[in-house]
Amino acid sequence: MGNNLLKGKKGIVFGALNPDSIAWKVAERAHEEGATLTLTNTPVAIRMGETQALADKLNTIVIGADATNTDDLKNLFEKSMEYLGGKVDFVLHSIGMSPNVRKERHYSDLDYNYLDKTLDVSAISFHKVMQTARKLDAINEWGSVVALSYVAAQRTFYGYNDMADAKALLESFARSFGYIYGRERRVRVNTISQSPTLTTAGSGVKGFDRLLDFAERMSPLGNATSDECADYCITLFSDLTRKVTMQNLFNDGGFSNMGMSLRALEQYEKGLHKDCACGEDLPSADEHRYD
Ligand SMILES: NC(=O)c1ccc[n+]([C@@H]2O[C@H](COP(=O)([O-])OP(=O)(O)OC[C@H]3O[C@@H](n4cnc5c(N)ncnc54)[C@H](O)[C@@H]3O)[C@@H](O)[C@H]2O)c1
Repeated sequence: MGNNLLKGKKGIVFGALNPDSIAWKVAERAHEEGATLTLTNTPVAIRMGETQALADKLNTIVIGADATNTDDLKNLFEKSMEYLGGKVDFVLHSIGMSPNVRKERHYSDLDYNYLDKTLDVSAISFHKVMQTARKLDAINEWGSVVALSYVAAQRTFYGYNDMADAKALLESFARSFGYIYGRERRVRVNTISQSPTLTTAGSGVKGFDRLLDFAERMSPLGNATSDECADYCITLFSDLTRKVTMQNLFNDGGFSNMGMSLRALEQYEKGLHKDCACGEDLPSADEHRYD
């Protein structure tokens, strides 16, 4: 049951591939809160995924767009405004992809064409979305643009690879464009740094199940789910957060400010004892140094 937090608001949601997608939950929650919205994804994702099923459920349309292509984005904003009957109030950028992660390239042996693609899809597309929207004057005053990020933008996480660099850039775009958009049009721009979440993009990260478990044990409130991420997005789209802009906001159960938790410590000790009990020597730190 919604609270009409987005009653009368219009939006565009990028990145709902299937019911696991964070964007899927955000679109459902926004609809529940009284918003009308359009959905968008790449033509391939629309063909292979379930975006159209979500559109049917929310009684809306899907507009195909590769978020790295500014012509596609222009068409997306124009068609959305036409369908929704005016400028939009919120945009969710929920897009991430790294060919280096997919092909398991080591961070010290990146393919630079892949790196270009990672940065373009996962970060520069955010700038392209905002630049296109601003040129078309497609977002209402006090509108809200949100992109999804991860704490690897600030700290090193094994296996996250060049996505960490993409997230750092994404968060920087939120600050730099947020200044321009806020000053000129009173549009807010923020990133939400979300806990590891089991989705198609998330599960591509090496050792993701252990990352998820580690974050769960380290966070006093536990990992934030995709439903909880959707709730947070709704607050940022709503009028209750009109002066929040240029921020990277952690929705991670406290993980980002933790050093060592009791639960993680106990698990670590259990691991040590298990190895000792079976008589095996523990691997030295050096043995893992080049993984
Ligand atoms: N899953 C996690 O653990 C986690 C944690 C923090 C942040 N995030 C971020 O959340 C966002 C959504 O990812 P998700 O976990 O819901 O996975 P997902 O795989 O469901 O969503 C990723 C989406 O990006 C879309 N996409 C890829 N290339 C595109 C392009 N060129 N143009 C337009 N769309 C394109 C895909 O089609 C897909 O819908 C990403 O930015 C991701 O980095 C995820």
